[in-house]
Amino acid sequence: MLKNKETIKIGVFDSGLGGLTVLKHLLKELPAYDYLYLGDTARVPYGSRSAEVIYRYTEEAVDFLFSKGCQLIILACNTASSQALRRLQQEYLPKKYPDRRILGVIIPLAQAAAHHDNIGVIGTKGTISSGVYKEEILKINKGAAVHSNSAPLLVPLIEEGLAGKPATNMILKKYLQPLKVKKIKTLILGCTHYPFVINDVRRIMGKNCGVPNPGQIIASSLTDYLERHPEYKTESIKDGKREFYLTDEPKSFKSIAENYLGSKIAHIELIEL
Ligand code: DGL
Repeated sequence: MLKNKETIKIGVFDSGLGGLTVLKHLLKELPAYDYLYLGDTARVPYGSRSAEVIYRYTEEAVDFLFSKGCQLIILACNTASSQALRRLQQEYLPKKYPDRRILGVIIPLAQAAAHHDNIGVIGTKGTISSGVYKEEILKINKGAAVHSNSAPLLVPLIEEGLAGKPATNMILKKYLQPLKVKKIKTLILGCTHYPFVINDVRRIMGKNCGVPNPGQIIASSLTDYLERHPEYKTESIKDGKREFYLTDEPKSFKSIAENYLGSKIAHIELIEL
């Protein structure tokens, strides 16, 4: 059992910079925790890789975050959540870290959408082909229609700092069109990178389709989780520490991150997994 007095360290893992869209809301909702952000920028994108490779990369990432003292890890990456979370929870944790936790993002995002009857999902090829969103939505709302489309070019464009540029918007339209014609009522942004273009997505989808911000949903779901698990509660009233680890430092990461988070990042440590 963890002691309440120590500040709980939460690891936030993403294949690249997309996890910043989750971290931003965690910092806002739950600022007292220490956060360790790990972006596997040397190997991004994960989305088109095999399930076995995604599992191996994700296991290496959680190994690193646990070795740094994290008690709890959020797999912010939808691709890792859909392809690796179950096995990590069922096989890896009981063997290696039985008193620590790994949480994913699929269930909270599916739960937030499932009261609608006509739902769209966009994500990487890995996430969409896993069918996990549909599976989780149908557990809650058997009658829901779930339409999905993978958007493989969006992650590289966003990692290159091209969010909002005409080329990105043109590709975005192409990915959204098949969902728009289905007259979906809500769209799940099933990839951490997509909130970087959320305003463009909302404009393209029009006013009849809601596009909730996944980071807000994850942050409020984690807040609930922490209420139900007082062993992870941090009593501190001060902001915790923030640490950033990357496996490669794309020039754009620091400026994109500072811009998006609205605060300076003192140091980014390069690591090897
Ligand atoms: N950020 C990841 C996600 O949420 C995907 C990006 C990638 O393909 O690596 O799915």
